[in-house]
Amino acid sequence: MRLVMLGPPGAGKGTQATRLATELGIPHLSTGDMLRDAVRRGTELGRKAQSIMEKGELLPDDLVVGIMADALKRDECRRGFLLDGFPRTEGQAQALDTLLQASGQTLDRVALLEVDERELVTRLLSRAAKEGRADDTRDVITRRLKVYEAQTRPVVDYYRVRGVLAEVDGVGTPEEVYRRLRQAATPEIA
Ligand code: AP5
Ligand code: MG
Repeated sequence: MRLVMLGPPGAGKGTQATRLATELGIPHLSTGDMLRDAVRRGTELGRKAQSIMEKGELLPDDLVVGIMADALKRDECRRGFLLDGFPRTEGQAQALDTLLQASGQTLDRVALLEVDERELVTRLLSRAAKEGRADDTRDVITRRLKVYEAQTRPVVDYYRVRGVLAEVDGVGTPEEVYRRLRQAATPEIA
């Protein structure tokens, strides 16, 4: 299975993707996790990414497309993958299509987790209290939500017109959301 998890900040992409990828036995590739790891390790990429992430802005397309192209070349991705946080702009979606086409692959499904803004803010502020992620402050959360609407919302339509989009209600317990996601993203094996 080749899957993408789309949705605004706090929608539960990471929570749900971790579980779904484990169940399907495919790698979970999160650009956000890769970038935070680079920041922790203090690599050149990490130094570049840190200030952009702390502002809630997106890194340049060519940079994240390069990271994802390298990740997708790994042997473990031959059986499929679950992308989380990528693609996030129409340019990234086009670049992903080009990358996949080069190896005769296509995406099976793009799952969109839908959660209202008030609930997103509540979730992210409560995570801030627990984990202290640098971009979980009220101002940066507001910015991330704006950036999502302006730059990532077009990606939803990009996949809708291609007939691969599955919309999933992301409100409820993680277990309830997982059951809906499982049914919507992998109807063949649900
Ligand atoms: P990224 O790490 O992708 O962050 P994000 O999209 O803002 O989303 P989050 O990780 O905050 O939320 P999530 O949807 O994964 O939800 P989660 O499961 O954690 O990106 C961070 C930054 O990196 C970007 O701003 C950008 O700068 C850069 N970046 C990354 N990818 C990029 C790209 N492709 N291009 C350019 N730049 C890029 O859940 C959130 C919280 O809610 C958790 O505490 C969780 O426990 C809780 N929760 C989960 N599900 C539920 C539920 N059902 N009910 C109640 N609480 C729940
Ligand atoms: Mg996440």
